[in-house]
Amino acid sequence: MNKQPPLYYPSGHEQDAFRVCFETELPLMLTGPTGCGKTRLVEHMAAVLDRPLITVACHDDLTSADLLGRFLVKGGDVNWVDGPLTRAVRTGAICYLDEVVEARRDTLAVLHSLTDYRRTLYLDRTGETIEAPRGFMLICSYNPISRSALKELKPSFRHRFVSLAMDYLPPEQETAVVASESTMDHASAARLVKLGVALRAASGGGVHEPPSTRLLVTAAKLHVAGLDLEKAIHAAVIEPLVSGGSMDATMKEILDISLPG
Ligand SMILES: Nc1ncnc2c1ncn2[C@@H]1O[C@H](COP(=O)(O)OP(=O)(O)OP(=O)(O)O)[C@@H](O)[C@H]1O
Ligand SMILES: [Mg+2]
Repeated sequence: MNKQPPLYYPSGHEQDAFRVCFETELPLMLTGPTGCGKTRLVEHMAAVLDRPLITVACHDDLTSADLLGRFLVKGGDVNWVDGPLTRAVRTGAICYLDEVVEARRDTLAVLHSLTDYRRTLYLDRTGETIEAPRGFMLICSYNPISRSALKELKPSFRHRFVSLAMDYLPPEQETAVVASESTMDHASAARLVKLGVALRAASGGGVHEPPSTRLLVTAAKLHVAGLDLEKAIHAAVIEPLVSGGSMDATMKEILDISLPG
């Protein structure tokens, strides 16, 4: 193994599922709320499996040429330059398409031949056919509760993937994540997680979003760097959740209980 994998705390069998997909050459779809560990799982498993990782952040201007490659003119010469997907297929890397629901359907169509039994990429513009070697794996992810998830992926796309639904970790593991990512002491990390769990429970009514593990880690890092815990929580957790608005009564109550004195 080339380098130490970034720390990943499992909540279930996701590492085994990932490994089995890799070994059986099946593409994987990760779903889950923001900041629950999707990217971290991919980074961790790429390092464990000793494969290079090529990540593409999808957006609605992404074209198939952005994925596959294009002819570029340089010094009077016209050369083909591989896009990230083609590079991943050629080199047997793990290709991670983040927030795949953001991409247009016609862009995703180039993935069809790669994500079924053919495992083959067709480059129309060069006339090349590239069979994916062992080692190549395609992973996509999206957040099903984000607004863009309403765009929906076509069944003909979704059915090509093994799907793994992820969620925030149970409190004990989430405390371990917050403590280890920030070097915060275990007791303070447990308090932060308790606050996060209470805010998540209260977020069901849709007044605010559920706070992610990412927000809790950021608050912990601010506190470890010297910021008073209450200020750290306001800056890293509350403000991003209310995004410029003000706290509702339930949120205030939860904060008062979590930050006595
Ligand atoms: N299971 C976990 N093990 C270790 N760290 C984790 C885990 N889950 C979350 N984290 C921490 O939370 C941060 C956010 O996780 P990550 O970037 O993987 O979220 P994500 O699901 O990819 O979110 P998004 O949908 O916004 O991209 C990580 O940088 C890490 O600090
Ligand atoms: Mg991510």
